[in-house]
Amino acid sequence: MADDQATFSQATLALGGKDTAFPVRQGSVGPEVIDIRKLYGQTGAFTYDPGFTSTAACESAITYIDGDAGILLHRGYPIDQLAEKSTFMEVAYLLLNGELPKQEELERFTHTITRHTMVHEQLATFLRGFRRDAHPMAVMCGIVGALSAFYHDSTDITDPQQRMIASHRLIAKMPTIAAMAYKYTVGQPFMYPQNSLSYTGNFLRMTFGVPAEPYEVNPVIERAMRRIFILHADHEQNASTSTVRLAGSSGANPFACIAAGIACLWGPAHGGANEAALNMLREIGRPERIPEYIARAKDKDDPFRLMGFGHRVYKNYDPRAKVMQATAAEVLKEMGVTDPVFDVARELEQIALHDEYFIEKKLYPNVDFYSGVVLSAIGFPTSMFTALFALARTVGWVAQWNEMISDPEQKIGRPRQLYTGHTQRDYVPVGER
Ligand code: SDX
Repeated sequence: MADDQATFSQATLALGGKDTAFPVRQGSVGPEVIDIRKLYGQTGAFTYDPGFTSTAACESAITYIDGDAGILLHRGYPIDQLAEKSTFMEVAYLLLNGELPKQEELERFTHTITRHTMVHEQLATFLRGFRRDAHPMAVMCGIVGALSAFYHDSTDITDPQQRMIASHRLIAKMPTIAAMAYKYTVGQPFMYPQNSLSYTGNFLRMTFGVPAEPYEVNPVIERAMRRIFILHADHEQNASTSTVRLAGSSGANPFACIAAGIACLWGPAHGGANEAALNMLREIGRPERIPEYIARAKDKDDPFRLMGFGHRVYKNYDPRAKVMQATAAEVLKEMGVTDPVFDVARELEQIALHDEYFIEKKLYPNVDFYSGVVLSAIGFPTSMFTALFALARTVGWVAQWNEMISDPEQKIGRPRQLYTGHTQRDYVPVGER
């Protein structure tokens, strides 16, 4: 995948009294990269980049983001076109295989995913070991990790066929597991998948349906949910995807790698921001209180941040947030609800986008700012928001994991450090300290 690309130019580093040249490579689009793989061997120095703000950790052909222009492409297709015109199964196929499927390919892929939606009955027993008030993300971490104990026929990660079976199982079972995590918290029975429904419709029925009566999938809600899944499917080398890649680089079990990604996504700085953003909007409560929170967000001594605002890469409006805002309006209208939180969100956005602090720091709404408004209107509790993010992002995680494993240049990830601790010193017996 790598060195066959022409070396674009060279970057010369003057260090330790000598100049050392490093190849500079250009991808199909985006910033050049300085290939520093030989830096330590040739100079004895490491680079220092905590948080990887300037580091390309891998080569990938799946997702491209231009943060300044607010562009997000999946295999070259703009996110707003996919959200408007595609389906989640089609986007999943695209991310995994690199091209939009032909009709027959899409039908075969959808059939395969549909036939893997059930989970082993023992997993239901396992899930019943949690407390009823367990956070759904704690359940998702545990259950997805536990899948590694159930499937021994698809863990030879060197076999592309077995990798694809594990990938299909994960994509297929995440809605079932997420719905089970929700049902368990509300004390309702688990609903089995119904294969006649769409991927999204099946999830809605497993979540909101009950055995006592038929469940009709609302097509407007189904379309909104499908769009939300597409918006969350993949996002380049974000923290949770990088976690999956790093876990996978040791050859770990694929289900365990995805469980590691779920754990990382849970954090409020990452996927947990959708839950935190809605809680923040509810705490603000009404537009008159917005200035107080804007002031807190700007106060260096106050750890408060405007949740759902800012992004490591987007220094422009997150294209997903635009689609999410439109979806929020559509769902609220369909549900016939007016949610004051939505009014607070739109007012807060307008005030922040015209505030010098946010303009100077290029802080715009991200995908998490409006998603909570939509999900709440559909009927999900805030505790389920990040579980839905994990459900959708599983497609991106498995696509990135497959790409990493099949990269001939792939090796175990093992960063170094800038050591600032004690230099060597001798042990002192406790009586002499
Ligand atoms: C996701 O990486 C991805 O692609 C993630 C994601 C995906 O799809 O996978 O897009 C999903 O995680 C979206 C982000 C959700 N998180 C939040 O909404 C939480 C609130 N946002 C921030 O915590 C923050 O913006 C981050 C974590 C998202 C990004 O942080 P960075 O890139 O490390 O930037 P930073 O913290 O260095 O902030 C730069 C400046 C700082 O001020 P100075 O130190 O320069 O004075 O901007 C300020 C920050 O204090 N700042 C904010 C702010 N976000 C950044 N100030 C107020 N409110 C905010 N939300």
